Amino acid sequence: MVQKMDLRGRDFLRTRDFSTEELQLILKRASQMKLELKRKKKPYLYLRGKSVAMLFQKPSTRTRLSFDVGIHQLGGHPIYLNWVDLQLGRGETVADTGRIFGCYVDGIVARVFRHSDLEVLAESSPVPVINALSDEFHPCQALSDCFTIIEKKGRLEGLNITFVGDGGSNVSQSLAEAVLQLGGNVTISSPKEYSPREDLVAELRRLARKGAKLRITEDPIEAVREADVVYTDVWVSMGFESEAGDRVRALRPYQVNSELLSLAATDAIVMHCLPAHRGEEIASETIDGPRSVVWEQAENRLHVQKSILSLVL
Ligand code: CP
Ligand code: NVA
Repeated sequence: MVQKMDLRGRDFLRTRDFSTEELQLILKRASQMKLELKRKKKPYLYLRGKSVAMLFQKPSTRTRLSFDVGIHQLGGHPIYLNWVDLQLGRGETVADTGRIFGCYVDGIVARVFRHSDLEVLAESSPVPVINALSDEFHPCQALSDCFTIIEKKGRLEGLNITFVGDGGSNVSQSLAEAVLQLGGNVTISSPKEYSPREDLVAELRRLARKGAKLRITEDPIEAVREADVVYTDVWVSMGFESEAGDRVRALRPYQVNSELLSLAATDAIVMHCLPAHRGEEIASETIDGPRSVVWEQAENRLHVQKSILSLVL
């Protein structure tokens, strides 16, 4: 049973910042919000009179748009701020910036390179900080992906979610964290050098809820057997461009394509956070194929982030 919970004032830097019950509360409200929007019901203006700073140090299409539109739909005022246009670009510290943001806005959505910058921002500003992606985590994506899985499969508990590719990516690490917290099984398949960090793996095993399992394997074929969801992300994440040659070479055997998919459960769905590099981590025929849910997956970012915003602000 979902108990009365108050998430106001909380930061969301990783999914584990919230308990399983709190994540479930967010998902439940997201589902209501999605239904209301589809029925063209006027949304409740949870953010009326509130301003939200959207600080971006990296490019973005989905996250920027869905937060901007979502804040607007909730009656709030989104303010897009490019990192290099602020005094941050000239050396003002993240801590001073966070303190100043706290003087003017009611919440901060931030996309950064270093995850530690988000932690400093959260410590220095009195308002909630929501991680819109860092080098290590992408919790809004992960929670929204759990929402999509539940929508498509009716549940997450007990399902096998397999990530194939760059296992150390922000998307892979947050997906594993969120799925394990919500009772799903996670398999990550990548070359050793692109696996999640060992200390994180240990942490993930501790987080796993009620018998949920985490498996790490270098073999993509073994990984997709019995998978209910096959998930991949780009091989070269933003900020890792100098490693592109090595990454593409090492990750080549991990492409999600029809051959690999033929080994998964017949009703397995394919997910990708997007943007996709067709012909690298995913074949065109697969992302555009009948098992792909990537477009609804992208749409759901809007509903889940609105739910998060309404609860923490
Ligand atoms: N999936 C995702 O976060 O996409 P953007 O980089 O376009 O925001
Ligand atoms: N891992 C990718 C995700 C993009 C949404 C990156 O960080 O570039």
